[in-house]
Amino acid sequence: MKVLVAYESKGGHTRRAATAIADACRADGHDAVLLPLGQIGRSEVEQCDAAALGSWVEGFILFGVKPARAATRWLDQAPLLAGKPVGVFVTYAVHPRGSLGVLRRGVEARGGKVVAEHASRHQDPEAGAADFARRLLAAG
Ligand SMILES: Cc1cc2nc3c(=O)[nH]c(=O)nc-3n(C[C@H](O)[C@H](O)[C@H](O)COP(=O)(O)O)c2cc1C
Repeated sequence: MKVLVAYESKGGHTRRAATAIADACRADGHDAVLLPLGQIGRSEVEQCDAAALGSWVEGFILFGVKPARAATRWLDQAPLLAGKPVGVFVTYAVHPRGSLGVLRRGVEARGGKVVAEHASRHQDPEAGAADFARRLLAAG
């Protein structure tokens, strides 16, 4: 399967999580393409069989916590995901709160089918990446 792993990262933690997800896909014998969200266009989406889309979260810890604006902006205009299995993931410092739900609804609005969700703390962004990849691949 060809898996697109796309991420929005400012300080590198979400890129680390995305890298661990792509590595887990490759270790399982799949082809993974790892790219920042800003570099994803229609052809990257059309060519993949499954996708993992991730972002860091921004907000005020207790309220207004959501995926980075650049990620939701990208999703608002993203190429149609046409029923493809998608996993959504975030990295955070304290609590992701509703961030995964925001990503899930954004993916669903573009026609994707969310099959896995994952949040990791920025102290250990790779934690749980392999299990998340397994759940995504199992649904693909
Ligand atoms: C402006 C800003 C706001 C943030 N707000 C939150 C927040 O409300 N809750 C939280 O848990 N983490 C918050 N964080 C922490 C980041 O989500 C976390 O460090 C993340 O792993 C950063 O990912 P990156 O290194 O890929 O950019 C915030 C970080 C920044 C820079």
